[in-house]
Amino acid sequence: MYLEKDDERVLAGEFGETRQKMMEILVALGGVYEAEKLVPIASAQVSGASYKTIGKWGLAWLQSLDTRVAVPTVLNPIGMPQEGWQEFGIGEEFAGHQAEVVEAYRRLGIKLECTCTPYYLRITEYGEHLAWSESSAVAYANSVLGARTNREGGPSALAAAIIGKTPYYGLHIVANRRPQVVVEVEGGEGLHADHWGGIGHVAGKKVGNRIPIFTGIRPARDNLKALGAAMAATGAVALFHVDKITPEARVFSFDTDSLDRVTVTADEVEDLFVETEVEAVAVGCPHCSPDELREIADLLRGKKTTKPFYIFAARGVATANPDLVAAIEKSGARVIPDTCMVVSPRMDEFGSIMVDSGKALAYVPGMCGALARIGTRKECVEVATS
Ligand code: F3S
Repeated sequence: MYLEKDDERVLAGEFGETRQKMMEILVALGGVYEAEKLVPIASAQVSGASYKTIGKWGLAWLQSLDTRVAVPTVLNPIGMPQEGWQEFGIGEEFAGHQAEVVEAYRRLGIKLECTCTPYYLRITEYGEHLAWSESSAVAYANSVLGARTNREGGPSALAAAIIGKTPYYGLHIVANRRPQVVVEVEGGEGLHADHWGGIGHVAGKKVGNRIPIFTGIRPARDNLKALGAAMAATGAVALFHVDKITPEARVFSFDTDSLDRVTVTADEVEDLFVETEVEAVAVGCPHCSPDELREIADLLRGKKTTKPFYIFAARGVATANPDLVAAIEKSGARVIPDTCMVVSPRMDEFGSIMVDSGKALAYVPGMCGALARIGTRKECVEVATS
């Protein structure tokens, strides 16, 4: 891989051991994927932020780094809200370790906005190169915003954040972003808006790591978020197109007859929505948008919760919408920033959790050891208040 003079000096250790190690990670990655060069990035998003997922070895590695990031960088959700973790039911020992992780990232100059929806907080431009690691954020950035990022691991995203560049391969190259498989959704435009996570859950299993193009559907932005997150979880989708909707669908001329085709049937989606008793309800995977908070506030008006009901959102989104948060919390539900239903140990305490997300449906059983049920947001509110 070609390196500029300054990059060679970083690799030789002239700017310290940490930067040298980070450049070594990028050079190794570039070698594996036969990248021709490094490309500057506009921002980074680093996963591996919850102590639940990185543990003491991950923390020790972070604490050994002594440099600063070169581009605006945010974290994926951590294991607890940064404030009010006691009320959320987090124990002191975990909170102490989590605080050490946060401090290690703060020392690196990373913004302590811990979210899988950084695109609600900072404008990301079409065509920008990024190094993001949360799979749902990667799918959204590539597909909905037209930015360019591979699905980074936590260490490679951090290395890119510190160097300010990432290897130029994969989805950074326009020619690699062409649709590879057509997805038809039976019932298309008539499906309920809240079924998009379910559609993605089914579609992800069928398309695997190929780049799908959907035809005959008209999802809105939040629907695209749910669709991509679920496909990234049950498949390995980092980019998808929707004909006549997403920005790059019109960039490529392609003949749908020459591509493989898969169909997502209404029955396959409906079969996911199995009714069963649950101990808690959680929505906001990926983190809620302001519109989703408004919808939940409307659905909760005049109701009281009868079981724990958590709504996860970026701290910046919650803070910018205090009236919506107050309206939601009047019911007994809680809007929780910084963390999520999968990476927080709080959710491990429930034996069964209802979610509104195709991604959470896939991850909650393995990550929380709980039975997961999916419902629409309206159904989630009904179950949380009945
Ligand atoms: Fe975000 Fe956690 Fe879901 S990181 S996409 S809320 S699993």
